[in-house]
Amino acid sequence: MAVSTATTPTTSSLSFSHLSFFQHKKASFLCTKNIIAKRKCEHRGVHVKCMVFEKSSAAEAKKTKRQSVYKLQTLTSWLLKQEQDGIIDAELTIVLDSISMACKQIASLVQRAGISKLTGVHGAINAHGEDQKKLDVVSNEVFSNCLRASGRTGIIASEEEDVPVAVEESYYGNYIVVFDPLDGSSNIDAAVSTGSIFGIYTPNDDCLLDLEDSTTLDTVEQRCIVNVCQPGNNLLAAGYCMYSSSVIFVLTLGNGVFSFTLDPMFGEFILTQENIQIPKAGNIYAFNEGNYQLWDDRLKKYIDHLKDPGPSGKPYSARYIGSLVGDFHRTLLYGGIYGYPRNKKSRNGKLRLLYECAPMSFIVEQAGGKGSDGQQRILDIQPVEIHQRVPLYIGSIEEVEKLEKYLS
Ligand code: AHG
Ligand code: MN
Ligand code: MN
Repeated sequence: MAVSTATTPTTSSLSFSHLSFFQHKKASFLCTKNIIAKRKCEHRGVHVKCMVFEKSSAAEAKKTKRQSVYKLQTLTSWLLKQEQDGIIDAELTIVLDSISMACKQIASLVQRAGISKLTGVHGAINAHGEDQKKLDVVSNEVFSNCLRASGRTGIIASEEEDVPVAVEESYYGNYIVVFDPLDGSSNIDAAVSTGSIFGIYTPNDDCLLDLEDSTTLDTVEQRCIVNVCQPGNNLLAAGYCMYSSSVIFVLTLGNGVFSFTLDPMFGEFILTQENIQIPKAGNIYAFNEGNYQLWDDRLKKYIDHLKDPGPSGKPYSARYIGSLVGDFHRTLLYGGIYGYPRNKKSRNGKLRLLYECAPMSFIVEQAGGKGSDGQQRILDIQPVEIHQRVPLYIGSIEEVEKLEKYLS
């Protein structure tokens, strides 16, 4: 109901759709639609001209879209809505909520790293032979704790753990969660963007850890490994949280990509972008060109072409943070391509299929983009080991397809 002055009648008794009231010198009424409106105007004893308009479909659309500026949708209320709509079940809602909790905690640790003396290395080396940073270890603990406390995860597999772990605390749901607790951790000490990445697979009761059972831990471990080794095609949900100038949680449940920004004033993720679509093309490329001499000649040709497209084209811009989450997020919003190719020293590149490439590929496809290893769709790759690496080319569909042509 649109009303323009404080002298208007109360609207609750009006049965018409749209009223416009304005002061008029003559005591005349032009109530063309509804007698109730006329009576109301007369009763006030002011010279008012009343006009009643038929509701137009455009006005109606505007009216239904109008929302209070104070009405914010939190990640939790959004998840509950997805549950009500039957897109996810109650158990997955709890798992996702616990992941968002972990991300809030990691965001706070990342932001205070310098103050809390959480910069620098931890002293141990992970399954990939990489020096673990203090925050890699802490973030892994935070993520694992939140997932365990949810009581809905059966197995968790992390970049920072040698093998997937069966969760004793699970009593319902048993979702399989794969995650990179802190991605881009080499950027931590310089306070540059980092992130967390996760993917969620269907529960599989075969992998439950039954303490009453006589099966040995080794057998359970084997079952867990087999269950975690699923192709990205089986993902139910995937997302990441970027710790940057804003803390942004991006999520797909297989029905579009949604983004939530952490409101530091009240500590909640607020829905800020719905159904994100990646531009079909974009002239930004993100590759670590320090490895150029180690690349395949076909890839070198492709990169040379981006930098020197000939008289008809404009060179692409290079942007590379060295943090997959940050580089991917920019690519998702602006378009372009991110690549981590294989090279002479790393035959499969650097990035891990399970908790980096597959979740990001699920997200990018949900946004209309493409994730490829140069030859095939990342989501079609059947993992053969937990920490398997694959080359990754991801971003705008036209850019990834152009690269595939160069590599073919
Ligand atoms: P992580 O910090 O989880 O080990 O991942 C780092 C990854 C990824 O975030 C980034 O895109 C890439 O490593 C950067 O590698 P380079 O330093 O070799 O470019
Ligand atoms: Mn990573
Ligand atoms: Mn990591």
